[in-house]
Amino acid sequence: MTTMDRLRRTWLVLARRIRGSRVWHNALTRYAALALAAALIMIAALAPLTSVMVEGWSQRDIELRARLVFRSIRDQVAVGIAVKPEFDLVPFFDRLAEDERIQSLGFCTAQGQLRYATKLLPKAVTCQSVKRDKSDAFVTVADAGKRIHVSSFPITAGSSTGHLLVLHDLSYIDDRAREAQFYSVLALVGVAMGLGLLASAIVLGLMRAWARSIRSAILDAQAGSGQSASLKRSDFPISREVHAALAEMQFERRFAEGIHVEWSPKTLHRLLKDELPGAEVLVVSNREPYIHNHVDGAVKLQIPASGLVAALEPVMRACGGTWIAHGSGSADREAVDRHDRLRVPPASPAYTLRRIWLTDEEQDGYYYGLANEGLWPLCHIAFVRPVFRERDWAYYVMINERFADAIVEEAATDAPIVLVQDYHFALLPRMIRNRLPKATIITFWHIPWPNAETFSICPWRKEIVDGLLGSTILGFHTQFHCNNFLESADRFMESRIDREHASVTLGGHETLIRPYPISIEWPPAALADQAPVHECRDAVRQRFSLPADVRIAVGIERFDYTKGILDRIRAIDDLLTRQPTWCGKLVFIQAAAPTRSKLDSYSTLQAEAMQLAGEVNARHSRNGLQPIQLVIRHHEPSEVYELFRAADICIVSSLHDGMNLVAKEFVAARDDEQGILMLSSFAGASRELSEALIVNPYDTHGMAEALAVALGMPADEQRQRMRLMRDLVRQRNVYRWAAQMLLDAARLRRREQITVASATRAASAAE
Ligand code: G6P
Repeated sequence: MTTMDRLRRTWLVLARRIRGSRVWHNALTRYAALALAAALIMIAALAPLTSVMVEGWSQRDIELRARLVFRSIRDQVAVGIAVKPEFDLVPFFDRLAEDERIQSLGFCTAQGQLRYATKLLPKAVTCQSVKRDKSDAFVTVADAGKRIHVSSFPITAGSSTGHLLVLHDLSYIDDRAREAQFYSVLALVGVAMGLGLLASAIVLGLMRAWARSIRSAILDAQAGSGQSASLKRSDFPISREVHAALAEMQFERRFAEGIHVEWSPKTLHRLLKDELPGAEVLVVSNREPYIHNHVDGAVKLQIPASGLVAALEPVMRACGGTWIAHGSGSADREAVDRHDRLRVPPASPAYTLRRIWLTDEEQDGYYYGLANEGLWPLCHIAFVRPVFRERDWAYYVMINERFADAIVEEAATDAPIVLVQDYHFALLPRMIRNRLPKATIITFWHIPWPNAETFSICPWRKEIVDGLLGSTILGFHTQFHCNNFLESADRFMESRIDREHASVTLGGHETLIRPYPISIEWPPAALADQAPVHECRDAVRQRFSLPADVRIAVGIERFDYTKGILDRIRAIDDLLTRQPTWCGKLVFIQAAAPTRSKLDSYSTLQAEAMQLAGEVNARHSRNGLQPIQLVIRHHEPSEVYELFRAADICIVSSLHDGMNLVAKEFVAARDDEQGILMLSSFAGASRELSEALIVNPYDTHGMAEALAVALGMPADEQRQRMRLMRDLVRQRNVYRWAAQMLLDAARLRRREQITVASATRAASAAE
């Protein structure tokens, strides 16, 4: 997926989540239209109100003025009508009517005759048409399209009475009302526009700032730097929404695009921080990552030959936390503090190792007995008969309990994430669940799980399946092993199997059964100090006294009967017998680390391998070159990687293997993109590394033919195959393995939090 695609996808997720901002935009438009309509309505309502107000004021004005006129001439008029009836009031009225506002004046007698009137007194105004009450009266009449205001004031002078009429032309009020209306509308429009402009400027500024901060938040999320520092929670009203969107987006993106993420210690660390904030990580395994041994009077640190350790150790370096394991080294007790803890890796401590002590009897029963004579051969189809002893089982239960107690001691919270490793601890998940019900328990079974028929051999099959079903998630390397487990749960337990979601529910508790193909760190730490490939080849040739033209095949592992070591020696024998030209031209170096040597099946294998190597060497040695070089000792990672880099061919011929990380380490070691991997179809790794030469270790001749193909493979084809395999191992590294499990756990923890919260709500609603 290109960066553009990712950006587009990111934006889509964000847009979907904050669809609210589009709603905001729509709402803004709608509210703006509404506000405009309201402003218009207000203007339309205020305009007539202005005229009414102006008219009201003016009328009152006119009435006051009319009264003033009346009071000022009342006496003269009284004298006129009572004392000097011959006295003509018209010229007196005319003078008053010269006033701009007064239109005309008149006098009505008590009999309703208009005795005096100025010229402009309208015809429409008669003594009958106006009110002639005992008190002042006012009316408005229309004349020739004009409105005339008539004020009528009663006058009494002796026995004579009458009414004085003062008329005002109202047209000037209409002009004044229109003018007032015009200016008020103008003022309202001005104010509305001003406010609108101010509001727009504020909204625009805010939106620009939002857009800027959202953009930088997306880019931050895109770059993977977690929550944006540029988008602080309190900055804007929608910031909470944006943060929620980003959190969801990051989670979804990682979950959905897990394969595209370049998983590294950094991304894994961030995943823990973002998706499981505050969660403490505890790992439990039998084998410890660092062993202190007394060697020649000194304490020597050893990194054990164990696929489990190779995978888990880099994960713990990235995550931190505590790793609880059996302290098996002769100097282990000297290296711990009074709580049996030490910080590791010794050179740059990143996590705590807590050592658990076992007596020899306990180790014989739990480790050598039940785990390695019972469960190991039971789960591997290598035709070694499993042995089950009651006594071993009792130790197995006891030691599982001891580790469960240690987990409770080490856990600082009641809901830690406990990563339980392998077949030594089948009972541990249930024991932890009983002690820490809220823990998230991820169990990984590093070896194959047989079909239910085979598993039914085990006398404690029910206890083992029940113990494992205490886990939150139970992981295997392949879907095939998951299916086998589901079949066993179905056969031996009263449980509910959900095949669609691949889960088993027992006693109300659900366990997810998932495939998580394990891998190695990328790039491997041991590769950092390696010399260039040609120098590694020279060094190995020198060490084994090999001439320059001799081709080198290697096999590197623990001396275990599941690894098919005898079978690959037989294949070399077959090749050299059929194609003797390879005698003196091909050497097979088998680096084999002694393991579980106390057990007959292992010591016998060593003896057999040595005898077989001797026979083959006797048959096919040429010019002093023995074709089989058996090196039985522990090899440190740097030696292992040097051998890988020196080899033309790496043979991984497991008779049965959960994954086999040697195959992946060989691929990781070859940064020159050369070398051929011969890989057993019975190793889990063959599901992923399909560009290897896939072989059946039981078919000796077939393996010999594959060896011949490998020896003749052109450099270009080697490069093409190696490149594809390296891409796969780089992408599907061990950080991705851990990330997938932790992401699943994070999702389950969230789901559980929601369930608990809604149950609490329902309970409080019921009260
Ligand atoms: C296998 C098992 C691991 C074990 C390793 C080495 O890979 O799955 O659990 O640590 O072998 O065996 P050892 O018995 O030496 O620990």
